[in-house]
Amino acid sequence: MTKNALVTGITGQDGAYLAKWLLEKGYAVHGVMARRGSDSLWRLRELGVADDVRYIDGDLLDVTSLIRAMEISRADEVYNLGAMSFVGTSWTQPILTAQVTGVGAVNVLEAVRIVNNKARFYQASTSEMFGLIQAAKQDESTPFYPRSPYGVAKLMAHWATVNYRESFGLHASSGILFNHESPLRGPEFVTRKVTLAVARIKNGLQKELRLGNIDAKRDWGFAGDYVQAMWSMLQQKAADDYVIATGTTTTVRNMCEIAFAHVGLKYEDYVVIDPEFFRPAEVDVLLGNPAKALDQLGWAPTTSLSELIGMMVDADMRRLEHRPA
Ligand code: NAP
Ligand code: GDD
Repeated sequence: MTKNALVTGITGQDGAYLAKWLLEKGYAVHGVMARRGSDSLWRLRELGVADDVRYIDGDLLDVTSLIRAMEISRADEVYNLGAMSFVGTSWTQPILTAQVTGVGAVNVLEAVRIVNNKARFYQASTSEMFGLIQAAKQDESTPFYPRSPYGVAKLMAHWATVNYRESFGLHASSGILFNHESPLRGPEFVTRKVTLAVARIKNGLQKELRLGNIDAKRDWGFAGDYVQAMWSMLQQKAADDYVIATGTTTTVRNMCEIAFAHVGLKYEDYVVIDPEFFRPAEVDVLLGNPAKALDQLGWAPTTSLSELIGMMVDADMRRLEHRPA
């Protein structure tokens, strides 16, 4: 029997990779689509799956639309990837962030509980919840200390997931994913901002790249690898929480070095530090310990940071070649 999956955030980076992964596994994939003015299907189109997803109008802020989406999709598995996901914006739109990223997750959990409490639920939790880190390497038992309104909202969603599991017996799992990137990453996030700038500079379209705190360290992996872990969590007998990470950390500075070197340039010649991109409170370093996922899910990352950044620079170079004149 074909399984039905319902994905919020289907138009985002992870939504696109997860849709492709699930379609390849034979799922009928239903995506909750928030109403937007501009074309939001470009990522699904780039992966060649835009026509294979069944779209359902809905918004994380409207629980009735999520109940309707549960009814229409007859979902066996629900992946809550929708969020206001850009940390920087969460200081200027903290209420929206709390509502979409925090309350939105509770809305999805309620829709699951009301329509089909046997459906399995995945919450897109984040290493941003560790914030001011309380252990050198963060795992499932590391205490949280969020440093942004986004991190605070995600913490609510995470604990709601745990609470629905414990209160109602929902098969609800929380994936604490560290930063993951790809050629489909939004251009506001630092890796893509850098790879896009590298391609533009190489093509003579840009002279400099303005960045904030390049001493921040992140544990970066490839989104294509990470969505497989999401699926794997929902195939386990019991729901649980898992850290998904590579176990290595790199500064933004070194990531820049890799990206510029990929096309034979030196980052020092182009990067300009601009206070505009510093955050009111920073997460200085993230470094995950994915041992539990390795052990229980058999999951392991397959893509090094150099491969990932190379892939992103190449994709941005290709996009510039094919842009309309
Ligand atoms: P993304 O590219 O920013 O995608 C976010 C998705 O949420 C988009 O499809 C967006 O739709 C949708 N969305 C926003 N507001 C909505 C609303 N009110 N109702 C319904 N949908 C709404 O994020 P991503 O990188 O794919 O990440 C997926 C999830 O994992 C997010 O929850 C993110 O916070 C979390 N996460 C990401 C990372 C990472 O490094 N990528 C790490 C840990 C956790 P529109 O585009 O139409 O607005
Ligand atoms: N975006 C951005 N732009 N970040 C910059 C810049 C810049 O110009 N200059 C320095 N940085 C630093 C940020 O201060 C941060 O320390 C680091 O680069 C990474 O920033 P982002 O790429 O915006 O990602 P993030 O770590 O804040 O958040 C991402 O990862 C989280 C998981 O840890 C997002 O995908 C979140 O949704 C996700 O939960």
